Amino acid sequence: MDKVPQAVRDYLMEAHQLAAQWSLPNDRGDYINSKSIPIKSVAVIGGGTMGRGIAIAFCLSGFETYLVEVNNKAAEFCKNELEITYKREKAFRRLNDSKVEKLRKNLQITTDFQKLNNCDLIVEAVFEDMKLKKELFTKLDKICKPSCIFGTNTSSLDLNEMSSVLRDPTKVVGIHFFNPANLIRMVEVIYGSKTSSKAVATAFEACRSIKKLPVLVGNCPAFVFNRLLGVYLNQSQKLMYEYGYLPHQIDKIITNFGFLMGPLTVADMNGLDVMEKLKKENGWPASDFEKEVWRQKRYGRKTNKGYYKYDPNTHKKENDIEMEQLIRKFSSAASPNIQILNDQDAVNFLLYPMVNEGLLCIEEGIIHHESLIDIMFILGFGWPVATGGPMRFGWLQGIEKVASTIILWNSLEPNDRTYKVAATLQNVDRKNFAAKL
Ligand SMILES: NC(=O)c1ccc[n+]([C@@H]2O[C@H](COP(=O)([O-])OP(=O)(O)OC[C@H]3O[C@@H](n4cnc5c(N)ncnc54)[C@H](O)[C@@H]3O)[C@@H](O)[C@H]2O)c1
Repeated sequence: MDKVPQAVRDYLMEAHQLAAQWSLPNDRGDYINSKSIPIKSVAVIGGGTMGRGIAIAFCLSGFETYLVEVNNKAAEFCKNELEITYKREKAFRRLNDSKVEKLRKNLQITTDFQKLNNCDLIVEAVFEDMKLKKELFTKLDKICKPSCIFGTNTSSLDLNEMSSVLRDPTKVVGIHFFNPANLIRMVEVIYGSKTSSKAVATAFEACRSIKKLPVLVGNCPAFVFNRLLGVYLNQSQKLMYEYGYLPHQIDKIITNFGFLMGPLTVADMNGLDVMEKLKKENGWPASDFEKEVWRQKRYGRKTNKGYYKYDPNTHKKENDIEMEQLIRKFSSAASPNIQILNDQDAVNFLLYPMVNEGLLCIEEGIIHHESLIDIMFILGFGWPVATGGPMRFGWLQGIEKVASTIILWNSLEPNDRTYKVAATLQNVDRKNFAAKL
């Protein structure tokens, strides 16, 4: 934080305070008048990537913690993966011997759902599949005590539909951790149309007890963080298949801007199959280039090839000639309408649509304040702190410039949902600005 301007520090401090002052719409309750239920026992369902990280966080903070898997084979796999995590975290000095011993002793990996009959909080982290999550909640509804709050770590699914299977749908709340969940402080807490303020207060209290920063957001496809992230990743793809930028060139441009990692490295880490599933399930548009990437099962690190290739033994990232040929094939046939002349244009192409999407989220009432989006990206994504986050970056750039640019791009690409102009940008006074573009 050394080089972070004082104004940005103050701004982020204020964002922390704002995050704590949550309120539900229509006087459904807020941080002042809503009480969390006491939490002693937590069950995380699904011991995959996210479930393991979430369970580690709860267990280390002293909660009675169950990590529930579907069968013995999956439970064994989960145990092995946990051991790998402990080893890695020790190497990075984020865990010591006594913490690892505590985890080995207290983190209860089980396949027996009946053990959850006295749990206060469930956090489900099974596959991103509505039918599966509904079946799971139906089963848990018969086992758990009535006061138990049901949290879901879904990245995108509709909370209202998920809660519809419960006798009391008001107990369902989204608790969306970021990967790796044991390390990243940011959590989106999501309310559906029936979620009670007690469920939200409990989610907030649970997050605080494990040293996370919860931010309240509304229920919409992909919520806030993934909505903005999706826009950023889509724009990075366009730079490849429309403009011929190679993955390492785009990543370099964005790390020069201050990010720790570029978008294509991030996409490979997250797994391109995740986006495939999200887009197919929600009927979101995918480019022909993206479909070809999926067809080739280029799912990123997990398949040793994505936008980059990875050495199967060392896992080292390398540029991939075949991917570069694919990019050239698509980009040579493309005739994009938006001009990109230099690296700065490419940065704007990636980041301005995020500012627009953040404003749309606010206008739709999905999140209350721009600084909450900013803090989400700083703590959850490694956005360069000195700029204060995506929304503040937009204002520092000159919001007239962002407005003029998005309005221009919308006129050039009217069918591209990414450039649907936020009302805030439509209303910016751009009179003195057009000449500077
Ligand atoms: N991976 C991420 O970066 C990320 C980030 C935020 C949220 N999420 C969300 O978290 C959830 C889990 O994602 P993940 O990446 O950890 O998935 P994963 O595939 O790594 O793990 C899912 C786990 O759930 C287990 N499971 C499946 N059905 C079960 C059942 N009926 N009972 C108990 N366990 C069961 C599987 O055996 C598997 O271990 C998804 O909803 C996903 O959208 C993922």
